Amino acid sequence: MLPARTPHASSDPLPPGPQELLDQLGQVSSDLAELLLERERAYTLLEQAHRDTLHRLTVAAEFKDSDTGTHLVRIGRLAALLARLGGWPQDQAALLEEAAPMHDVGKIGVPDAILKKSQGLTEEEWTVMRRHPEFGARILGGSGIPVLEMAAEIAFCHHEKYDGTGYPRGLEGEAIPEVARIVALIDYFDALTMDRVYRKALPDDQVLEMIQQQSGLHFDPRLTLRFLENAQRFIDLRDQINREAVAPR
Ligand SMILES: [Fe+2]
Ligand SMILES: [Fe+2]
Repeated sequence: MLPARTPHASSDPLPPGPQELLDQLGQVSSDLAELLLERERAYTLLEQAHRDTLHRLTVAAEFKDSDTGTHLVRIGRLAALLARLGGWPQDQAALLEEAAPMHDVGKIGVPDAILKKSQGLTEEEWTVMRRHPEFGARILGGSGIPVLEMAAEIAFCHHEKYDGTGYPRGLEGEAIPEVARIVALIDYFDALTMDRVYRKALPDDQVLEMIQQQSGLHFDPRLTLRFLENAQRFIDLRDQINREAVAPR
């Protein structure tokens, strides 16, 4: 038999009634909602700060190079498109879009006297210039943050060529990370189809032809095929980004 409950002494607080309990529960859940909201806000701020820092790093590298801001936006978005067409999941393609614009960050480590000389580099100057992938990997790598790790991989390998004749390591074929194979192709396409201080943009048709000729040499043949089969989509996206860039804000 259960022991009889001791009746409350008159000084004991009365146990909360059902309405009071409900009110307390309501208070707890609204406090919890407020906390979650605060956490959400803090997370959004952190995310913004993170993106902003990455963007500023890219801008810093731009000062050292003739690459323009729109070139960098195009590299990110066109690379993401090539990845998506190959069946990459959206979140990975989004990482690539953020990481690809940092491919030349290592140029920060190359003296201006070499960088600003558009042509006619001596062998010695080339040796320094060819170190920018390694500098980039050192600037970006080792954090364990996925977007930076991807950016480091791209920076280190974006001058490798599919046939093994690239630099800095002369990697061949699939030994070159796919992200870098993608960026190499997109960077080539975009660099040649935009005006530079030392030459006008080449016509799209001519550049597509040049890419075709480099299939299996400079570029991964499967990526080349995917790119060429969808060439109009890349051209349209590029033009759209350019229009957005000149449109008044
Ligand atoms: Fe580069
Ligand atoms: Fe570039």
